[in-house]
Amino acid sequence: MDLTNKIAIVAGSGNPEGIGFATAKTYVEHGATVMMIDISAEVHELAESLGDKARAFTGDVSRFRDMELIIEKIIADYGRIDIVVNNAAVNIPGDSVETPMERWELHYNVNVKSQFIMSKLVIPQMRKQGYGSIVNMASANSFVAEKQLYAYVGTKGAVRQQTMADALDNAPYGIRINCIGPGLVNTGFNDEHHDKVDGGIDEVMKHINDIHPTGKPVTAQEVANMALFLASDLSTGCIGGYYAVDGGFAIK
Ligand SMILES: NC(=O)c1ccc[n+]([C@@H]2O[C@H](COP(=O)([O-])OP(=O)(O)OC[C@H]3O[C@@H](n4cnc5c(N)ncnc54)[C@H](O)[C@@H]3O)[C@@H](O)[C@H]2O)c1
Repeated sequence: MDLTNKIAIVAGSGNPEGIGFATAKTYVEHGATVMMIDISAEVHELAESLGDKARAFTGDVSRFRDMELIIEKIIADYGRIDIVVNNAAVNIPGDSVETPMERWELHYNVNVKSQFIMSKLVIPQMRKQGYGSIVNMASANSFVAEKQLYAYVGTKGAVRQQTMADALDNAPYGIRINCIGPGLVNTGFNDEHHDKVDGGIDEVMKHINDIHPTGKPVTAQEVANMALFLASDLSTGCIGGYYAVDGGFAIK
């Protein structure tokens, strides 16, 4: 799969163990120039580790003005945007009664509104090009619920539906929009939930067979491989799809 000459954005790529960083690294390895965005300043160090094909921006994906400044800069410097991965998210456990209003709003701002903001900013450029691929990070939780995950599960359902609606409107312009549904990936992202519900990540790993029939977690690289396929021209028939990379989590 060749991404030579492609300009890619990976939002939420500031965790060295995370799916976003694995995706940015994979894109660079396949020839793309990658713009890495994260709220964490660690994204600068991570971009440096990938060499001169990666560049970092700090910003909050849920703030329109932050993203507008970054996207304007990218278009001014490179003249195009071919690939966007919307990977940033938050995941704070709680049921509907105990979840404070601000925390619920934070989930919808970071996990859902961010993708709307990105579409508003990048799709006009992609329409001019007649070309683009957007990959939204959904979750097995787009289909199945888990205890004490009220806000997160709701947002991931919305990501999948939003992906389909955006894909339908933009397919005639040569823009493909799809989403990926990872299962359990041990990135630290779920630790607070596991601590609250399952007695911690080590306990979860002892019973991983109950979650994934493969008997092991999914790796960030396995998710990045799907993000590579969906970004590449091998997936031109994929429009508005949900692609599970969940070790069989959602078929049980
Ligand atoms: N880890 C899993 O088991 C799992 C399972 C299903 C889906 N996912 C999804 O995969 C994606 C990546 O998760 P991950 O496990 O790699 O965790 P991660 O912590 O590496 O990813 C989230 C990244 O988003 C960044 N971020 C958070 N809020 C932000 C904001 N407001 N603005 C900019 N950046 C922000 C974080 O700093 C972090 O780098 C998420 O969308 C998550 O919902 C993860």
